[in-house]
Amino acid sequence: MTKVLLVLCFLLGLLFLVQAHGNHKKIGFYELKRGNFKLNFTNYGATILSVVTPDKHGKLADIVLGYDSIDSYKNDTTYFGALIGRVANRIGGAKFTLDGKTYHLPANDHGNTLHGGTRGFSDVIWSVESHKKHSHVTFSYHSHENEQGFPGKLKVQVTYKLIGAHQLAVKMIAKSVDKATPVNLAQHTYWNLGGHNSGDILSHNVQIFGSYITPVDKVLIPTGETRSVKGTPYDFLEPKKVVTHIRELPDLYDMNYVLDKSFQKQLSKAAVVRDPVSGRNMELWSNQLGMQFYTSGQLNGTKGKHGAIYHKFAAIALETQGFPDSVNHPYFPTQIVKPGETYEHIMLYRFTAS
Ligand SMILES: *[C@@H]1O[C@H](CO)[C@@H](O)[C@H](O)[C@H]1NC(C)=O
Ligand SMILES: *[C@@H]1O[C@H](CO)[C@@H](O)[C@H](O)[C@H]1NC(C)=O
Ligand SMILES: *[C@@H]1O[C@H](CO)[C@@H](O)[C@H](O)[C@H]1NC(C)=O
Repeated sequence: MTKVLLVLCFLLGLLFLVQAHGNHKKIGFYELKRGNFKLNFTNYGATILSVVTPDKHGKLADIVLGYDSIDSYKNDTTYFGALIGRVANRIGGAKFTLDGKTYHLPANDHGNTLHGGTRGFSDVIWSVESHKKHSHVTFSYHSHENEQGFPGKLKVQVTYKLIGAHQLAVKMIAKSVDKATPVNLAQHTYWNLGGHNSGDILSHNVQIFGSYITPVDKVLIPTGETRSVKGTPYDFLEPKKVVTHIRELPDLYDMNYVLDKSFQKQLSKAAVVRDPVSGRNMELWSNQLGMQFYTSGQLNGTKGKHGAIYHKFAAIALETQGFPDSVNHPYFPTQIVKPGETYEHIMLYRFTAS
């Protein structure tokens, strides 16, 4: 009798544990490899854990910031390598109105919503749809109605795919199931082309194919205007060292660029980054209209992989996406995805060394 009771208690306890965690899918690691181009991913946050590429002498290094353990990713406030959603970047006042209804979201950043809320797509366990080590890995996630306050169900899928030598394509797809909803996905990898543990990126050369920015207020919400970069520290139309004008900016670089395109949604070159020391070069192409350029001004002694300590300016993030807070700016390109419509975001990274 006591045995039966004990077993019953154990089962009830197990049930409680599973329910308390809700999401009880398994967290795993998924490698992609072609020659000496090696990448590692996890389905926790559909995250890029590492990208190993050769420098101009053929010496290999991991060029993305990250942690050693999944527990550190769970604790993380930097979004290292993660897939961000349902709406990346900021939503002003943590609310928006759509089809006559006002939606309230978690305020996790100075009264605004940042990167999808307190538990966005970067902090959930994704399903693994398919994985072929020499080709691709595909993760998917079903976001439920009212998740982090957003309307309707959303089915999301991201594929990381090797194409050609030292090229990575990222394809993000989202389908709204039953209600119109804002969608703005972003890949949030922190790059240091000298190697994740090589110091700062101040001498990296950056070129951004964007002639305009969307200026922001004190809490980084767009004012609604678009402003030319000409004659400002934001001008990276020609390649320039990150350090050149950085001290003139109170908020360092954390700004959305309007990418120059001859027509919308075409795949075009968004940015080129080059590290003169290692000779590594990274080209980023995207079909998105905007790109957040961030120089890790908020890192301050973060304990990273293999004992690395990441300080201010340890990396560059180039997050192609729609414009921040679009949902509250009628003149910004819309991010609303209606039932039956498909959101599609493509990124292409090309790595070379010379
Ligand atoms: C991927 O990351 C996990 C966790 O850090 C590690 O155990 C595994 O060895 C890594 N695989 C590769 C190929 O780097
Ligand atoms: C997570 O954060 C808590 C509170 O800051 C800390 O005590 C703990 O050591 C952290 N765990 C990891 C793995 O970083
Ligand atoms: C960075 O960390 C140091 C040591 O923990 C602390 O004294 C300093 O105030 C921090 N700086 C910022 C800008 O948070």
